Amino acid sequence: MRLVVTKMNLGLWAAAYVKEKIHAFRPTAEKPFVMGLPTGGTVMDFYANLRLFYKEHLLDFRHIVTFNMDEYVGLPADHPQSYRSYMRQNLFSQVNIPPENTHLLNSQAANLPLECAQYEKAIRQAGGIDLFVGGVGRNGHIAFNEPGSSFTSRTRPVRLAPATIQANSRFFLNDVHRVPTLALTVGIDTILQARELLFLVSGSAKAEAVAQLGRPGVSENCPLTALKWHPHATLLADPAACALLKGPIRKNLDDCMQAQPDAPHWMLHLPKETLWTTF
Ligand code: GLP
Repeated sequence: MRLVVTKMNLGLWAAAYVKEKIHAFRPTAEKPFVMGLPTGGTVMDFYANLRLFYKEHLLDFRHIVTFNMDEYVGLPADHPQSYRSYMRQNLFSQVNIPPENTHLLNSQAANLPLECAQYEKAIRQAGGIDLFVGGVGRNGHIAFNEPGSSFTSRTRPVRLAPATIQANSRFFLNDVHRVPTLALTVGIDTILQARELLFLVSGSAKAEAVAQLGRPGVSENCPLTALKWHPHATLLADPAACALLKGPIRKNLDDCMQAQPDAPHWMLHLPKETLWTTF
């Protein structure tokens, strides 16, 4: 797993990275580039920059297939805070992606476990996910996999943690009672099956979750640590999100920053001793 720390706009960094990946892949109708996509505040700039690249003819979405990672249960699809609305507003209505190439979990389905199983099937039929872009919750959740989620979990209905309801109430007039308590989410294993992962994290409110990466091994109490199990995972962070990192990873990061203080970003692989638990 790689940690990339930058003072640049994370959204611009991520969009530029994704653009390069798509160009290198050379997607066609027969071989589309399959992406997993996130929602949330952190990735708004990511979508803004993807839209900009499209407008400037630097990115073509014709042969991109997308699978969103999660959706609230209990909001009508056209509710302004549904992730379906979010994706329409922030990306789908503004680029040339064919609507049939976009997939979101349908939380209005009569049989939610069946909807989840069909979503997994659709991902498989698309040939798996080439690049999963994600965000991180303050409590370390990835998608809506809350602390305690199994690392072998697949797409399923979940109950949201009180901390997530509190954090996301800012999108619901700061009223926790308006935030859905249930959601559908891809599982941690669904995410780990993607060929590459790029997760974005910013701000001091997430520093405690990022600090878990500096501890040895992984923990289901912090789903973010599952990224350590992936051979091509990158966590893109700003310095504030890394403020509480300790141990060898802190030292490596400080060394990188001191060696090249003006670098646009600092990139390091997680030290071996943080990847595995030592007995
Ligand atoms: C929600 C989403 C997550 C996302 C998280 C971070 O809870 N379900 O997929 O990673 O928000 O959101 P933000 O960037 O707004 O902090």
